[in-house]
Amino acid sequence: MNDQREDGAAAELIRLGVDHRVWDRFFQVSPLVVVGTKELDGSFDLAPKHMVTPLGWDNFFGFVCTPAHGTYVNARREGAFTVSFPRPSQVLSASLAAAPRCGEDEKPSLALLATRPATVVEGVLLKDAYLHFECRTEKIVDGFGRNSLIAGRIVEALVEEDAIRRSDRDDQELLMEAPLLAYIAPGRYSEVNQTMAFPFHEGSSR
Ligand SMILES: Cc1cc2nc3c(=O)[nH]c(=O)nc-3n(C[C@H](O)[C@H](O)[C@H](O)COP(=O)(O)O)c2cc1C
Repeated sequence: MNDQREDGAAAELIRLGVDHRVWDRFFQVSPLVVVGTKELDGSFDLAPKHMVTPLGWDNFFGFVCTPAHGTYVNARREGAFTVSFPRPSQVLSASLAAAPRCGEDEKPSLALLATRPATVVEGVLLKDAYLHFECRTEKIVDGFGRNSLIAGRIVEALVEEDAIRRSDRDDQELLMEAPLLAYIAPGRYSEVNQTMAFPFHEGSSR
């Protein structure tokens, strides 16, 4: 497909087709979180997820997960999950949480992750992450191929002191001091500490 760019040069658009997954052919930016759930034996599971999103402006949060994962089964059975947003310095912790299960379906790598108890739901939070949500499972929508959307109602949110926005604190300075971890799918990550104010149109609203 040919199109005309502003500078007059021809820009090629490449058709990817949809007979295979499109996601590996370009980069996208996402948050990277660690979802915590309670296992059947009373222990806690942690798993990284990047297909995550606020669900509107009210306090709902969703992530995509396959029913084949322990996280899905636990969030459905227990009716609760936690979400921790790791800092860039914790990228290895996020990776360790995805190590394969072995033996009795256990994930021994989780022993290396420092956690603290959740405050409202039964669960754990990844220690030193800058933001945590404690959620009650609200709705599970199956059927996106092999994947499902797990939607939760946020029943508590906890932010580390250095990451909280305040009226007496410059947003850009905050991000320099407490940078964000971005997952650049597929397979890369970035530390976000340089940002610019969005050029909102005067009078624009949500
Ligand atoms: C960087 C990264 C991002 C991931 N994002 C997702 C995701 O958004 N959804 C998903 O279902 N799995 C995702 N995974 C894979 C699972 O979280 C992973 O397989 C996990 O170990 C499953 O554990 P569980 O069986 O304890 O739930 C991701 C893995 C990595 C390393």
